[in-house]
Amino acid sequence: MCGIVGYIGEQQAAPILLDGLSKLEYRGYDSAGMAVYNGKEIDMVKSMGKLKVLEEMTHGGSTLPGFSGIGHTRWATHGSPTDVNAHPHYNKDSSIVVVHNGIIENYMKLRRKLEGKGYQFVSETDTEVLAHLLDYYYKGDPLDAISKVMYWVEGSYALGILFQDFPGEIYAVRKDSPLIAGQGKDGNFIASDVPAILKYTRDVYFIENQEIVKVTKDSLNFYNIDKEEVQKESSRIEWDISAAEKEGYEYFMLKEIYEQPKAVMDTLHPRLKDQDIVIEELGMTDEEILAVSKIYIVACGSAYHTGVTAKYVFEGLARIPVEVDLASEFRYRRPIFQPGTLVIIVSQSGETADSLAALREAKSCGVRTLGIVNVVGSSIAREADNVLYTWAGPEIAVATTKAYSTQLIAQYLLALKFAKVRNEIDDSQFQSMLYDLEKLPDQIEFLLGNKEKIQHFANRYLATEHVFFIGRGIDYAISLEGSLKLKEISYIHSEAYAAGELKHGTISLIEQDTLVVALVTQKELYKKTLSNMQEVRTRGAFVMAVTNAGNKEVEKSADYVIYLPETNPYFTNSLAVIPLQLFSYYVSLGKGLDVDKPRNLAKSVTVE
Ligand code: F6R
Repeated sequence: MCGIVGYIGEQQAAPILLDGLSKLEYRGYDSAGMAVYNGKEIDMVKSMGKLKVLEEMTHGGSTLPGFSGIGHTRWATHGSPTDVNAHPHYNKDSSIVVVHNGIIENYMKLRRKLEGKGYQFVSETDTEVLAHLLDYYYKGDPLDAISKVMYWVEGSYALGILFQDFPGEIYAVRKDSPLIAGQGKDGNFIASDVPAILKYTRDVYFIENQEIVKVTKDSLNFYNIDKEEVQKESSRIEWDISAAEKEGYEYFMLKEIYEQPKAVMDTLHPRLKDQDIVIEELGMTDEEILAVSKIYIVACGSAYHTGVTAKYVFEGLARIPVEVDLASEFRYRRPIFQPGTLVIIVSQSGETADSLAALREAKSCGVRTLGIVNVVGSSIAREADNVLYTWAGPEIAVATTKAYSTQLIAQYLLALKFAKVRNEIDDSQFQSMLYDLEKLPDQIEFLLGNKEKIQHFANRYLATEHVFFIGRGIDYAISLEGSLKLKEISYIHSEAYAAGELKHGTISLIEQDTLVVALVTQKELYKKTLSNMQEVRTRGAFVMAVTNAGNKEVEKSADYVIYLPETNPYFTNSLAVIPLQLFSYYVSLGKGLDVDKPRNLAKSVTVE
C-alpha cells in the first residue's frame, strides 16, 4: 500500500525521508520517489523498483539537498508501476508537487475537464489530476487552493503537498485514508503511518477526515475544509516499531480483517455511478456482454472459493452457465470452448503459476479472458485481455482475507452488470441490489464489533482435532472458505461439505462434541440445512450456526448462533465469512501459532 513521509526542519530532509519510507516497506510497494525544496526550486527523483534504487540514485539522499521535502512509496492502482507513474507528481511549471495515497474516483472526469483547459498529463495516474487541479485553483494561497480541490475530488486521499512559493511550509490533507502529523525536536513531520516517524517522535496528531495541516519547522496548524483553524490534541505513541507497523494489531491478519470495510468500499465505489454499474476496464460493449454464452471462473485456493460463490450469482442473476475450475486442473483438462466463452481468472497476486498457465491455455485457444487481480502490473494483469482490479491494497498475512472479500465484490458487480444488460433483472431489483451492496462495508464493520464473543468461543476449541463446515448453495461456498481458513492457520483438520452430502459418507466421522459449523443464510434452503444440523446433533455434534438476523428457528437445531445483518441472499458470503475469519484467527492465536506465516505456505505460489 502506498506510504507518505514528509519532513521540514533543521536537518537535511532527503535522508530522513528515505529512512521513513524504509519503515513503510513492509506494506508492499512497487516504486518510490522524493521531492525536496533546494533553496530555489523543488527537485524530484523517482523510480520504479525498491527504495534501494532511490537511495543509489540520490547517494543516500545527498544529491537532493534541502530542509523540507515529501517522499512516497507507491503501490500501483491507476497505471502500471513505472518511473513516470511513481509519485511525486508536478504541476505544469514544477512549482507544486504532490504525493497521494488512496483512489480519486472521479479522476477521469477531472482529467478531461483539465485537458479541456490546456493541461497536459504525462502519467496514467489519478494523482496527477490533483497536481493540475491545485495549479488551477492556486492564486497565491495554498490553503484556499487545497480547500477548493477538496470540494471537487471524490474518493479517498491522503496528500502531502509542497508549494515552491512557500518553502517553509508543507501541507497535508486527508479523506478516508490515514494521515498523521508529528512534532519533533528540530523539525516536524507528516506521514501516512506511525512507523515512518517513530524514530524521530512519539508525539503525533491524528488528522481527521477533511482536515488540512500546515507544517513548518516549528509549528503545526490544523484547518477544516472551510479554512477555519481547528485545535487538536496530540497523542503519545507508546507502541514499539513492530506493533506500530501493525497499527497496534497483534498480527497483520487481524489488521487486514479490519481493513475489509475499506477494501470493499474501494473496490465497489468507483464502479457505482449515477445508480448504475460502470466498469470501464471491462472493455466489453453491451453486444459483447449479450453474446457471452458461457463463463469459466478459474483460480486457486480462496480465490477459487470466490468463484464457487460467483457461479451461483452469475447463474442466478444473469442466467449464464458457469463452470468453476481449479487452475491446476483446468490447465491440463483441455476444456471444450464454445463461441461466446469468457474465461475469468481470479488472483490476488496475479502471479500464481497455475492460474497464469490456465490464462495462457485459454488465450492459446482464442478465448476472451478477463483477470480479476489485486496486484497492478502483475503477470495475469498484463496478459489477460482485460483486467478488473480489486483495490484491497497489499496483503501481508499469508491467509487471504481482504483480497478474498474484494474478489467477491468484483464478481458481484460483473454478475449484476451482465444481468442488467441481458435484461434478466428489472430496474427495481437492480437498484435494490445496489443498495444492499453499498451497505456491505458498514455491515462488515458491525460484525467486526463482535470479535470478543468469537474469541471467547474460539478459545474453547484450541484442542479440537476435527471441524466440519456445512451448507447448501452459496452457504456451501462459504463453508469451503471457512474450512480452508481454519485449517491453514490453526493446523486443525477441517472439511467443508455440501450439507446434503453428509449422509453419503462423512456423517460417520461425527462423534460426541465434534464441532460442526453450519452456514444457514439461504432462506429457501433453511429447512433442508436445519434437518442436516439435527442429524449431526443427534450424533453428538456441537453445532455453531451462522444465519440471518431474525431466523430464530435455527436456535432449535444449534448450540451457538451468530446472526448476520440482513442483505440480499446473493451477498451473504461477504458477511458470513467475517465471523469465520475471526474464529480461525483466534483459534490460531490461542494455540500460540504464527498466524501470519503458517508452516509450509507461501503468499504467492509461483511454482506448480
Ligand atoms: C488462502 C490463500 C490461498 C490463495 C491462493 C491463490 O488463504 O490465500 O489459497 O487464495 O494461493 O492465490 P492468488 O489469489 O494470489 O492467485
